[in-house]
Amino acid sequence: MARTQVAIIGAGPSGLLLSQLLHQHGVDSVVLERQSREYVAGRIRAGVLEQGTVDLLVQAQVGGRLLSERLVHEGFAVGFAGNTFRVDLKGLTGGAVSVYGQTEVTRDLIESRVAAGANLIFEARDVSVDGFRGTHPTVRYAQGGRSHELTCDFVAGCDGYHGVCRQSIPNQAMQSFERIYPFGWLGILADVPPAAHELIYSNHERGFALCSMRSLHRSRYYVQCGLDENLEAWTDVRFWDELRRRLPAAVAETVITGPSIEKSIAPLRSFVVEPLRFGRLFLVGDAAHIVPPTGAKGLNLAAADVRVLYQALVEYYRTGRTELIDRYSAQCLRRIWKAVRFSWWFTSITHKFSEDPFSHRLQLAELDYLTGSAAALTSVAENYVGLPFESPLVRE
Ligand code: FAD
Ligand code: PHB
Repeated sequence: MARTQVAIIGAGPSGLLLSQLLHQHGVDSVVLERQSREYVAGRIRAGVLEQGTVDLLVQAQVGGRLLSERLVHEGFAVGFAGNTFRVDLKGLTGGAVSVYGQTEVTRDLIESRVAAGANLIFEARDVSVDGFRGTHPTVRYAQGGRSHELTCDFVAGCDGYHGVCRQSIPNQAMQSFERIYPFGWLGILADVPPAAHELIYSNHERGFALCSMRSLHRSRYYVQCGLDENLEAWTDVRFWDELRRRLPAAVAETVITGPSIEKSIAPLRSFVVEPLRFGRLFLVGDAAHIVPPTGAKGLNLAAADVRVLYQALVEYYRTGRTELIDRYSAQCLRRIWKAVRFSWWFTSITHKFSEDPFSHRLQLAELDYLTGSAAALTSVAENYVGLPFESPLVRE
C-alpha cells in the first residue's frame, strides 16, 4: 500500500499550489485528479489575481512567467446610465491587481510540479476518502482499470464544488449556506485587442456585461444570461450585438469583434460550508466555498486557504504543534465571508434581478453615490485589491 504525508484530491489551482508549497518545505504529497492533464490545463476560468495571490505564487517559485506576462491594473471602470466612472485602485489603496489567466497559473504549477518529479496522478477515477476522523486516513481510487489505496496523515479536499471530499462528510457535521442567483454568465474568449486597457463592469437595463482580457491580444467578455439559455443559440454575432447594447456608447464603439475561441455559461451562486476541517480532512477552495465571479474572488480565496493550510501543516511536521491546524477553519472563514459579502454586493448593484423599476433605480442611486464618495470608493477598492492577511504565526 502506498503512503504519503498529505493526500491532495484535485489538481486545480488549490491542489497544485498546496502540493508545491508543501514540497518546498519538505512535506510529501500525492495529488489525485479525476480529469486528464490536458483537460485541467485547458479550462478557462478566472483572470484577476490579487497582489497577495501573486506574492504566494512568487514565493512558491512559479512566478517567473506571471511577473513577465501579467498586466498590472491600477483601476477598473464601472458603466451605468450611459457613462463610466473609474475606481482608482492605486490612488485609493496604493494597491493594484494582476490580469493573468487561471489557465496560465495552472500550467505554470503543473510544469513546475512535474519538473520536480511530483506524484501527480491524472485520470484517477472513483476517488473515496475514509478514516479521516482517526489518525490514518485512507484514499482509494482506480486508474487504468486497477484499484489503488493510499494511506496518509492528512487529506486536503481541493476537489472543487462537485468534488468527493465534502460529500464524504456526514451532513449533520457541517452547515452550509447558499444563495443561487436567477442568472448566469455567458463568456467568450476571442483573439482581439481588449475594448479598453482596464476592465469595465457594466450595469444595464438589459442585464450586466463585463469587458475583461487575458492579454493585449486576447479578450474575455461576459453578458448576464438566463439559466435555461441554450449555448448553441448564442452565435458570435448575437453575442457581440448583445454585449455592445449593454455597454455605454463610447465603450461599445471601441469593442473589436472576432471569432470566439471558447464560449461557455456559468451559473452564479454563493456557497459556504462550515467548518472547513473534519478531523484530518481539510476543505480548500471551491470545495468549501463559491462566490459569484463579479468580485473576481474565487481563485484568490482558494489561494488564501492554501496559504493558511500549508503553513499549518509545515508547522505541524516541524514541531508537532497543532495550533495552526486547529485555527485553519476559523481563520479562513473570516476572509471567506468578507469575500462572499463583497461578491454578493457587487453582483447586487450590477446585475438585473427583475423587471422591477424601483430596484433598478436603487442600483443607479448606489452607483451614483459611489461616484461622489471617496469613502464608498475606498471600500470597493480595498475589497477588490484584496483584504490584508492575518499573520498565522502562533506567538508564545
Ligand atoms: P477547481 O479549479 O474546481 O479544481 C478542482 C479540481 O478537482 C478539478 O481539477 C476537478 O477536476 C478535480 N476533481 C473534482 N472532483 C474530483 C474527484 N472526485 N476526484 C479527483 N479530482 C476531482 N473565479 C474568478 O475569480 N473569476 C472568474 O471569471 C471565474 N470563472 C469561473 C468559471 C467557471 C465555469 C467556474 C466553475 C469557476 C469560475 N471561477 C472564477 C472560480 C475559480 O475558477 C475557482 O474559484 C477556482 O478554480 C478554485 O480552484 P480550486 O482548485 O479550489 O477548484
Ligand atoms: C475574467 O477575466 O474572466 C474575469 C475578470 C473579472 C471578473 C470575473 C472574471 O470579476
